[in-house]
Amino acid sequence: MDNRPIGVFDSGLGGLTAVREILNIMPQENVVYFGDTGRVPYGTRSRETILKYAAQDMAFLRSKDVKLVIAACGTVSSVAGALGDALPVPYTGVVRPTALASCLATRNGKIGVIGTTATIRSGSYRRAIHALDKHLSVFEQDCPLFVPLVENDFYHPDNPVPRLVAERYLAPLKQAGVDTLIMGCTHYPLLRETIQQVMGPQVVLIDSGRETAACAMELLRKENALCESGETGRCSFFVSDSTEGFSKAASLFLDRDVTDNVSYIDIVEFAEAHAKTTESEA
Ligand code: DGL
Repeated sequence: MDNRPIGVFDSGLGGLTAVREILNIMPQENVVYFGDTGRVPYGTRSRETILKYAAQDMAFLRSKDVKLVIAACGTVSSVAGALGDALPVPYTGVVRPTALASCLATRNGKIGVIGTTATIRSGSYRRAIHALDKHLSVFEQDCPLFVPLVENDFYHPDNPVPRLVAERYLAPLKQAGVDTLIMGCTHYPLLRETIQQVMGPQVVLIDSGRETAACAMELLRKENALCESGETGRCSFFVSDSTEGFSKAASLFLDRDVTDNVSYIDIVEFAEAHAKTTESEA
């Protein structure tokens, strides 16, 4: 038993897709979430920048004494997964659990992957799928406008803008005849209805946030580190930009009022102070 919180981070709102599932399947767990809203999006940035941001995000969560770190971000998992694997606490990104779920779901052996430009450029999902079954065909497409649409509240299924954008991005994957589509960026499940409408009802959508939460539960179970407080867990949220917009979106998405639990953190200042402490300890 370990009652310390689970640490979850993303560049913005997307990681809430993992948090929502954690609240469903592990309601006793305490969660500390960091959304780097001041620096979103990550997916259009260079490898070096993504590595730097990911290291700072992980250090921030570690400062909250978390028992597990979840990179609920396809981009970080794809580009900076090695940083997570080197942490002194258990870690999971989204790529491996999501790839596994897609291999189990496909019937015709054709899997589509959508993600940020950095994720698709890394080839992480393709590699993870082929490590499980090299006979599967993988079709990849980056969708760089999806994250800004979600962050700007343009994700409701009756909005024609995301629909038009989705039609354009998803056309090659429809053409390829994929029967399973990985939403490889944790922001994308917020566009789920639009994506499903465009792909058609026969295509199975795999939600990277949800699969990762399930994997986290397995990890904690194996480590005998599930929370056994007997009470509903607490969630604290930290963001690197204004708390207001995040509070509203998170309350809506998680279907609970989280307004009082959202705080601002200057992540750059934190990172500088953390680097000084680490230096003086060395
Ligand atoms: N949710 C992040 C992901 O899964 C979004 C990345 C971004 O900020 O571009 O990739």
